[in-house]
Amino acid sequence: MMTQTGASLLLDEVETQASVMSLSETIADRRLLVQLNPDHPGFRDQEYRTRRNLIAQIAQEYIPGTPIPDAPYTTQEQEVWRTIWRALEPAHQEYACAEYLECVGRLGLSRDRIPQLQKVTARVEANSGFRLEPVAGLVEPRVFLESLANGVFLSTQYIRHHSTPLYTPEPDVAHEIIGHAVTLASARLAHLNRLVGEAVRRTVSAEALERLARVYWYTIEFGVLLEEGKAKAYGAGLLSSAGELAAMRRADLRPMDLNAASLQPYDPTSYQPILFCAGSFEEMYQTLRDYFIRWH
Ligand SMILES: [Fe+2]
Repeated sequence: MMTQTGASLLLDEVETQASVMSLSETIADRRLLVQLNPDHPGFRDQEYRTRRNLIAQIAQEYIPGTPIPDAPYTTQEQEVWRTIWRALEPAHQEYACAEYLECVGRLGLSRDRIPQLQKVTARVEANSGFRLEPVAGLVEPRVFLESLANGVFLSTQYIRHHSTPLYTPEPDVAHEIIGHAVTLASARLAHLNRLVGEAVRRTVSAEALERLARVYWYTIEFGVLLEEGKAKAYGAGLLSSAGELAAMRRADLRPMDLNAASLQPYDPTSYQPILFCAGSFEEMYQTLRDYFIRWH
């Protein structure tokens, strides 16, 4: 996940944000590792906040290349995972692209219990070579996107608050796994993620980075393509939210024009009213691949 300035703070509906304290503040008081805004659903839940801090600590102490420690999830949080899947499963059948459905079948994710990142990353890596690494919270767009060039997806590990199972004000493990990890199990989608990371590495100016981050937003996060004349999602932000998938039907679907996408501002705090739609998976893949390769 990365911060909103460059691309994605994935929000199902609202606009609160979590922020992570600096390292020096972390050392000063680990109990306050994660700060939630007062309108965050978990703000008044001390138990939730303690758990968020514990999970953030896993990321803070994580050494790349080592197994990712399991996160503690409560019974209520396991129920959140089940609720998300109950809403998503029928929506996927109708609105997910064939490549996604094939990958989700291949990964064999439990619908009953939140899969631990270590298990998920092992399966993704076996499929495409991509890995997940835990992060405590929001990451600078450049850091997030450049890590993709190394085949590394920086993933949060906490889950949204149980009081709002179908809404999250920030990317959580449900978005990361159901959206990103599944798509990263596709060799072609994983390749596009690597290419955008490499393009970011060649990008110097903040303005150019912003344009590239918008392309990332409108494709890898919110991309749509046609299958037999029907709009289907291949973007992680759409595929991990039943609300977004439903809203996709009402969106203004524009032809896939990456230059236009790079100039199209977006609001991550509401459903996306404008989406860019490719004529097919093949067209999406080739257009994006060529765009990222030629980017300078
Ligand atoms: Fe995302």
